[in-house]
Formats: sequence, structure tokens, C-alpha cells
Amino acid sequence: MKQAAVGAASSAAFGVAAPAVRAGDAKRRLVVGLIGCGGQGKSVAGTMVQHGAKIAYVCDVDERRAAAAKEQLKADHAVSDLRKIIDDKAVDIVVIATPDHWHASAAILACEAGKHVYVEKPCSHNIREGRLMIEAARRNKRVMQVGTQSRNTKVLQKGIRLLREGAIGEVLVAKAWNSQRRVNIGHLKPSDPPAGFDYDTWVGPAPMQPYQKNCHHYTWHWWYNFGTGDAGNDGIHELDIARWGLGDPDHPSRVSGHGSKMFFDDDQQFPDTQYVTFEYPGASKLGRNRLLVYEHRIWSPYVQEGHENGNTFYGTEGYMVMSKMGGWKLYGRKNKLLKQEDGHYSVADHVADFLEAICDGKKPNADIGIGHRSTVLIHLANILARTGRAELVFDPKTEQIVDDAEANALVKRTYRKDHWAVPKGV
Ligand SMILES: NC(=O)c1ccc[n+]([C@@H]2O[C@H](COP(=O)([O-])OP(=O)(O)OC[C@H]3O[C@@H](n4cnc5c(N)ncnc54)[C@H](O)[C@@H]3O)[C@@H](O)[C@H]2O)c1
Repeated sequence: MKQAAVGAASSAAFGVAAPAVRAGDAKRRLVVGLIGCGGQGKSVAGTMVQHGAKIAYVCDVDERRAAAAKEQLKADHAVSDLRKIIDDKAVDIVVIATPDHWHASAAILACEAGKHVYVEKPCSHNIREGRLMIEAARRNKRVMQVGTQSRNTKVLQKGIRLLREGAIGEVLVAKAWNSQRRVNIGHLKPSDPPAGFDYDTWVGPAPMQPYQKNCHHYTWHWWYNFGTGDAGNDGIHELDIARWGLGDPDHPSRVSGHGSKMFFDDDQQFPDTQYVTFEYPGASKLGRNRLLVYEHRIWSPYVQEGHENGNTFYGTEGYMVMSKMGGWKLYGRKNKLLKQEDGHYSVADHVADFLEAICDGKKPNADIGIGHRSTVLIHLANILARTGRAELVFDPKTEQIVDDAEANALVKRTYRKDHWAVPKGV
């Protein structure tokens, strides 16, 4: 991996501009601002340091987390308002590892200020925000990488290459599963936020709701205003791999299935059980339809086909079982094991790809265009569950749900009135 330094001579292939280096600069280290200092933010920013970048800012609305991250990452400044990072011209890169409801707002503001963006998965809180993120990246010629690190995991890249080369014939169906046992978050009442935690800024552009302890760090995943359920938490990794193995098709045009709470009796708002089928008409090489099947049961204290979360690709000559934490096995006719390779996902390679994209002026492997298409799947699955529909028809061109005004309203979200971080054009 190249060290994370930029030179004024970086090329601008693929329409991505070289970083905003000041005239006369020779080479200098890329400068990073981290927004959201939970476990994931510190891990990604720490990996950037290992690749030679410098952390100028850490930002969190939880004082303790900001202070701990400043210490750990040897950052120059700990701040609580992300605009301090956005406004500093010396910052090249913004890492966004906040809850999902802040991803698009922070990413778009950063792009408009000329920063490159590493935004955690799922890239958006809703479909409309993802589209605005693509537009912001392209308009400002910035690199925007989504945190779906499988795209830069060598063992998976090799498996997908074999699928593309026809190792199991024509792949017509891909399955993605997310099966694990989550915790019960209970039924709690509103209470005062802890000292040193700025809850108002944490809620930011989302609609305000009273603070309660089970809607705070990490547990926000299960609330409509802030998270995207387990489909957006863990399922997105496998949905992204499934779509990759199907040849990265554009959006599906039909979504059907079921999603509901069947197990947990607690405040979680998203389904603990989902079975959803996405149809891609004429998407195979020979023009056949392709199906992507997603299932999640977040009450399963056992693994499925050897993996907690995983994928199976079904081809006309064989099938492949794949896991981002295990590698893959390729089977031919009559279930004969033909090939296998073990391996584990790599955040280091994903960060390296992002930094190289900036230095070389190219698109990264989990570019926002790819990330958005995969993330739309989790949003459609959640809309299906939230509206109780058995089927949705989606127009891939307009990114609208057809003939169903109630479901289509959820393509966007409601924002806090007049909040400064509401993305323009939503
Ligand atoms: N790629 C992966 O494998 C992977 C793994 C874990 C988490 N993630 C993603 O990373 C993100 C963060 O996850 P986490 O588990 O660290 O969550 P977390 O809730 O533990 O941490 C998020 C942090 O963001 C802070 N925050 C919220 N609003 C802020 C604002 N406006 N400005 C500054 N800080 C703000 C919170 O106070 C909190 O400290 C999520 O989107 C999650 O889906 C990705």
C-alpha cells in the first residue's frame, strides 16, 4: 500500500479530482477527521494511521468517548460539533462512524466542503439520502467509500471472480442470511441523558424523541428514527456480497416477502425475522431473471450452513457457499466439492483501497454508487415489513415505489424542522 500521502501530480481518472493540495506542496500526509468515536470509528481511523495518515480531529457528542479517542489516536483536537472538521480546509478526509441517521447529512456536508469521505455502512438511513450522497460525491469529484469491507477482501474477490468466469454455470439465485442471537433491549421509560452526552446533537436532523437508555450507543440500531434494523446492521454485508456475486445489477423491480417481530418482546421497532426476495428481471448474462433471497432471524443461537452470516450462490452447474469470516467452498454437480479457500475480511485492505483511490484519482471498490444499490435492498426490506405489504413494485430509474403512496413515503424520511444538517434536496 502506498503511504497515505498526496502529491500535486495525482491523476484525475474516473472523474475523481486529486485532493485539494495547496500549490507548492510537495508530498504530505493525508489529514483525517473522525466523526463518531465508537468502536468502529476508532478501528477505521486507527487503520488509517497505520497506513500513514494523520488524525487531526476526533468528534463525538459523548465527551468521554471523544477524550478516549483523542488519546488512543493521538489526535490534535477533540470536538463535539462536526462542523469544526468540515470547516477546516486542512482536513482531506472525513470518516463517518455515527449512527445511521447522521451518515448522509455528514457525508454530503463533507463533500461540499471538498473532503473525501469514508462512510460506514449502511451508507444511508433511507433511499433518497443515498441518491443525494452519490450526487454530492460526483458534483464535487470526491472519493466516497462505504464501509462494506468485503469488497476489498481478497479471498472473496477471488470467489466472486470464479462466479463471474462461470465456475458454477449461470448464477440465477443468490441467498444472503443473517442468523444470530441478539439481546433483548427491554421496555424502558424516558429518562435524563447521562452527563457529558449531548443528546440534542446526537439526534441531530432526525425527529426528536425523548432520551431513553435503550436508545443510546449501539441500541439505536433498533429504532426507526436512528437505525435501519439488523438488515442495515449486519445483513447489509451479506446483501452486498450477494449483489456483487450476481454481477452488481442495478435495482430490483419487485420485492416480496415477510418481516415482523416474532421473538423479542421489547422496544425494538424493526423485524427480528425477515424473508425477502428481490427480483432482477433479465439480469443474467443470457437475459434470464435473477433472484436475491435474504433471510434474517436474530433469535438463532446457532449457525446456518456453517456460518452465522453467509451467502450461497446457486448456478446451473453447481453452487458456492461463502462467508466474509470463513472464505468459500465451490461445489459442482451432485454436490462434489471442487475448490475451496479460507480467509477473513480485511478492514486494512478496505482502507488501503480508499486511500489509493484518493492518491490515484480513481473510484474505490465500495464506491457510493455500489454502496447505494446494495443499501437500497435493506431499505426496501424494511419498507415491506413496516407497511406489512407482501409485495412492492420498485421503479429502478426513479427510485420510487409504484402505486403505493404509503410505502413510497418511506423512500424518504421526516426530519427535524429547520435543522442545519437536513440534506438539501431531500
Ligand atoms: N463495517 C463494519 O463492519 C462495521 C462494524 C461495526 C459498526 N459499523 C457501523 O459503524 C457505525 C458506528 O457503529 P458503532 O458500533 O461504533 O456505534 P456507536 O453507537 O457505538 O458509536 C457511534 C458514535 O457516534 C457518536 N455520534 C452520534 N452523533 C454524532 C455527531 N453528530 N457528531 C459526533 N459524534 C456523534 C455517538 O455518540 C457514538 O459515540 C454504524 O453505522 C455501524 O453500522 C460498521
